[in-house]
Amino acid sequence: MISSAPAKVILFGEHAVVYGKPAIAVAINLRTRVYIERNPKSSFTVNGWPMDDAHHAYIKKAIEEVWGEEPLKITTESEVPSASGMGSSASITVAMVSALLAMKGKDSEEKIARKSFDVEWSTQGRASPIDTSTVTHGQGILVSFKKERNFLWKIERGGTEWYIHHVEIPPLRLVVGFSGVKGPTPKMVEKVRRFYTWNSFARDVIEEIGKITMAALEPLENEDYPKIGELMDRNNKLLTILGVSHPKLKKMIDAARKHSYGAKITGAGGGGCMLALTDEQDEVARAIREAGGIPFKVSISKQGYRIESHL
Ligand code: PMV
Repeated sequence: MISSAPAKVILFGEHAVVYGKPAIAVAINLRTRVYIERNPKSSFTVNGWPMDDAHHAYIKKAIEEVWGEEPLKITTESEVPSASGMGSSASITVAMVSALLAMKGKDSEEKIARKSFDVEWSTQGRASPIDTSTVTHGQGILVSFKKERNFLWKIERGGTEWYIHHVEIPPLRLVVGFSGVKGPTPKMVEKVRRFYTWNSFARDVIEEIGKITMAALEPLENEDYPKIGELMDRNNKLLTILGVSHPKLKKMIDAARKHSYGAKITGAGGGGCMLALTDEQDEVARAIREAGGIPFKVSISKQGYRIESHL
């Protein structure tokens, strides 16, 4: 069985989504691919090594959740840099879960999204299903806390209900800039939580981010790039106020702006990645490199998970 899944970036609403506000994420054309065969007379192996709790946490959990005891030989291949905020763990998880469910003849988009969230939840205690649903479905996803247009499925956990919706995304040309600094997601979520708990100004900022996310739906539908860019800039200002920027991210964002409709931190911040929307990907990639970052010229992946071959 060969299956693959894309990476993702958050366009609008990171952090605010933790407090019941909507967020929009898109799948991008960097993929993780897994090759799986039954390994009858041996044990579980990953890329030629015995499967290991620490190094193969997501793979192991995916096997526990949807497969069982029958030994497998697994080979992985990924274009997604790890710990960058581009959803590398969701990408490997969805590739594994979709392959294993397909081997059992039971794959459906909703089932893959649910099982993949279970794997992320039990492996890293992740706060929201935004990554796994985006990577499963492809295109764009709106996560919100009530039913909107183009509803796909609802995921519940620990008293929270997330409503997942399809969002039609125009052919965005994006450049992701990786700071090279690992994005410490739990630390940044905790930092914002403290600010949110003690400061009503922080709560207003979160509220405003939620409004920006909803305001982005129409320009996305109408391919209004200047408006999308303007909203990205506003979202970035608010994320900076929340304290999740990083000197390297700021430098890359400032450098990218000259050739972009808009640019912002994407994901948890404090390192990780920034994101620019542009017609001039080469110029933006050069500016990001000169600012010390690692650029990835990416576009939207219409396809989420894909079963590539079933022998
Ligand atoms: O850094 P990423 O892409 O894993 O995104 C984190 C997004 C947060 O809103 C900060 C947390 C979450 O789980 O939604």
